[in-house]
Amino acid sequence: MAQIIDGKKISQEIKDELKEAVAVLKEKGVEGALAVIQVGADPASSVYVRNKKRACEYIGIRSESYELPEGTSEEELLSLIQKLNDDSNINGILCQLPVPAHMDENKIIRAIAPGKDVDGFHTQNVGALVVGQSGFVSCTPAGIIQLLKRSGIDIAGKHCVVVGRSNIVGKPMALLMLKENATVTVCHSKTADLKGICREADILIVAIGKPKFITAEYVKEGAAVIDVGIHRQENGKLCGDVDFDAVETIAGAITPVPGGVGPMTIAMLMNNCVEVMTR
Ligand code: GUN
Repeated sequence: MAQIIDGKKISQEIKDELKEAVAVLKEKGVEGALAVIQVGADPASSVYVRNKKRACEYIGIRSESYELPEGTSEEELLSLIQKLNDDSNINGILCQLPVPAHMDENKIIRAIAPGKDVDGFHTQNVGALVVGQSGFVSCTPAGIIQLLKRSGIDIAGKHCVVVGRSNIVGKPMALLMLKENATVTVCHSKTADLKGICREADILIVAIGKPKFITAEYVKEGAAVIDVGIHRQENGKLCGDVDFDAVETIAGAITPVPGGVGPMTIAMLMNNCVEVMTR
């Protein structure tokens, strides 16, 4: 039976550490405030945004909510971002993605001042990660590094296979694993012999957005399997990109869905918010 990597517990530990750090900063007169922008009322985005605001409240930083109607123009959103960039009382800004189709997502991301980009999506922060300089790191991959480290899973020298090449997860994940001295392979929808490559992984990180795609045949005995996916099944239950019940019997360690990677994203967002306060 595999070790179950408990993201709920680890994310709680991190939030508690951050809560203490915020209390110490407050004694020194340093306050934190995160501006959270949501355009439209996508139900999934609303849940994420609510959870982010709750996490701010828990660790003791202020959150300011900007709920804009679906029909907001790109210009209006850019002007709000500019106003928040210039506001010295705001130290972190995030715009929940996706934005409506009439907006250019890349333009929105680039508009956020890199020093307030707690999502780590700005090209300047991504570039810093590529060349190994300091900057904000995308929260989900940063959370996965914490999950591995805090579960006692060694990374250096291991073969890590990342399945998925998105800007938010796959690409920064590969760079972070490289920074931790893993040997990294990135796979995607056009990869030949995906199964064979996955079977060589000591650490398999899956972010492909296909429910239960990774079965036991994709996994080497004893491998650590990290599942970034989250899907609602017809029976109402949640599942990931990994067929948990099948893979658990062969993996050395595995993240559940829910309660694995998901809670770590918000914990690392809070980590980035606290980092801005210490700059
Ligand atoms: N949409 C899905 N994940 C994220 C995230 O981590 N940050 C933002 N801003 N939007 C998202």
